[in-house]
Amino acid sequence: MSLVRMDYVLKKAQKGGYAVGAFNFPDLSSIQGIMQGAAAKNSPVIISPPVFTMDEMGEEMCIRCIETLTHEYPEIDVVCHLDHCSDFERIKRCIDYGFTSVMVDGSALPYDQNVELTCKVVDYASRFGVSVEAELGHIGGVEEDIVVDERKALFTQPKQALEFVKATGIDALAIAVGTAHGFYKQKPKLDFERIAEIRAITDCCLVLHGGSGVPDEDFKKAISLGITKINVGTELKITGNFDVQKALFAEATHGDVRKIQHQVRIKTQEIVEHKIDVFGSAGKMAQ
Ligand code: 13P
Repeated sequence: MSLVRMDYVLKKAQKGGYAVGAFNFPDLSSIQGIMQGAAAKNSPVIISPPVFTMDEMGEEMCIRCIETLTHEYPEIDVVCHLDHCSDFERIKRCIDYGFTSVMVDGSALPYDQNVELTCKVVDYASRFGVSVEAELGHIGGVEEDIVVDERKALFTQPKQALEFVKATGIDALAIAVGTAHGFYKQKPKLDFERIAEIRAITDCCLVLHGGSGVPDEDFKKAISLGITKINVGTELKITGNFDVQKALFAEATHGDVRKIQHQVRIKTQEIVEHKIDVFGSAGKMAQ
């Protein structure tokens, strides 16, 4: 059985000075491509269904697909992690279905209410040995159907981050340090000092969201300063899936979409393998 808690893979990453990729997916072909990429690189992987995908596939279907695929790759540590969710009932359902990690996103709430919602999730999740990620500050950009004005995005305050981690007992903290969800209109400007400052005052695993389009050298610097989980979504949804389908659809003969799905898996695998190399998690299952 290779479905594991998220804090298990992230604590190892923190010690080893690398990061583990958390990949969003739009459909089953993409999950297969992500798993193939992790297996080819002998890397732990976090497979992270966004709420929007679960609206289409269903929560139980998501976890069962991921769980079933882990049987094909028993050597790889796989985390099934619910991405951004502010709905306690849905988080609870995901835990009940067997997700090994969840993200409660109370970042749009006033601080005290964010703490309250996060504590409620930690309390429930801890009864089932499930890890919890929460967010403090606002990560800008387009996040499924939640639009956050990039200009109003608030960066995470280091002292408040420490207070938040202590008050909630979370395993991982998503920090707002200049990345945004969706493809960037211009090169992102990461606040590296802030990452170092937050790392210096808490040993909670730190998460960088908005990984699509961040230059490789920025990832490496962020990891060297203490980031241990990096989320990538849009690049897999668009470049790995939609663009491939669009390009091949006209050529599909006799309605045989399986050839397109095959190419989606290959392209997704290629993107995931590249990220794993950059994040430094390649070969870590062997250690
Ligand atoms: P991108 O879609 O920008 O890669 O961000 C993904 C993400 O952070 C999901 O939580």
